Amino acid sequence: MPLLAVSDLRVGYGPVPVLHGVSLTVERGEIVAILGPNGAGKSTTLASISGLLRPWAGSVEFEGKPITGAGPQRTVAAGIAHVPEGRRVFPQLTVEENLKLGGWRVRAEAKRFAENLERVLGTFAVLRDRRGQLAGTLSGGEQQMLAIGRALMSSPTLLLVDEAAMGLAPVMVDRVFEMIRAVREAGATVLVVEQNAPATLALADRVYLMQRGTIVAGGPAAEMRQAGILDAYLGPMAAAARALAGGRAIGDPGRSERPGRRARPPGEVPERSARKMPPAGRKRRARGE
Ligand SMILES: Nc1ncnc2c1ncn2[C@@H]1O[C@H](COP(=O)(O)OP(=O)(O)O)[C@@H](O)[C@H]1O
Ligand SMILES: [Mg+2]
Repeated sequence: MPLLAVSDLRVGYGPVPVLHGVSLTVERGEIVAILGPNGAGKSTTLASISGLLRPWAGSVEFEGKPITGAGPQRTVAAGIAHVPEGRRVFPQLTVEENLKLGGWRVRAEAKRFAENLERVLGTFAVLRDRRGQLAGTLSGGEQQMLAIGRALMSSPTLLLVDEAAMGLAPVMVDRVFEMIRAVREAGATVLVVEQNAPATLALADRVYLMQRGTIVAGGPAAEMRQAGILDAYLGPMAAAARALAGGRAIGDPGRSERPGRRARPPGEVPERSARKMPPAGRKRRARGE
């Protein structure tokens, strides 16, 4: 029996459907990733699992029991913790105060609460060093670790993490993903959603690809890497970028909000397109036609 079984989930906002029958499973002890472009429905899927959204149809079973539409309080109590997109920590509270807020489920049990705090600070050494510092003064990566640490304060069986890598420098992504591995080593099961395909394929045991509200592919991360799923996911640009990089890691070309990129106003011709020529034309010219 899988730890989490989602079947044929359908939900949307107002009258607009977003998920068109999403099914997935997570086995105990796994790190599973849902990979997909912006707007695919990844956050909507996590919100439906953690009870923030009530599904229109379909079911969510956790440890064999139905929790469909149970609401966030009951899902937290059942052992599911959700780290939402955008690492929402309380900037005016200290690191330790933020962690305490995550432990409300066990606050009544003072001993377990103290144990959880020790465990989280043991995993996230950087948080121990900064436990008295205001969360708003942490770097983006440290805030992400704090957001994950806060979720761990409820001793979840299943941790849901929404785009932990978003907006972080590659070295910080590595550190945050290292923490997610440590969380699994400590006994939790993890479901992450990400846009950053290369880093995620290295983190997860198993990956689902999501596009426009449906799961379009899935399998062990190692197989997905070999099957060239990256190219399918990122398009031919990934193959070209890899050729240019000559074997170096190419990172994530999927983000549009990177500094230095700006949207081109409609009608403006990109500078370099004048130099491009269709391959057929180039060949013809080479042959002197
Ligand atoms: N609160 C909301 N109200 C209306 N539409 C929403 C809301 N949240 C997300 N959507 C829409 O649902 C679709 C899926 O969004 P989301 O689940 O956030 O995708 P992802 O997390 O994969 O980027 C998008 O078209 C998005 O515009
Ligand atoms: Mg999202």
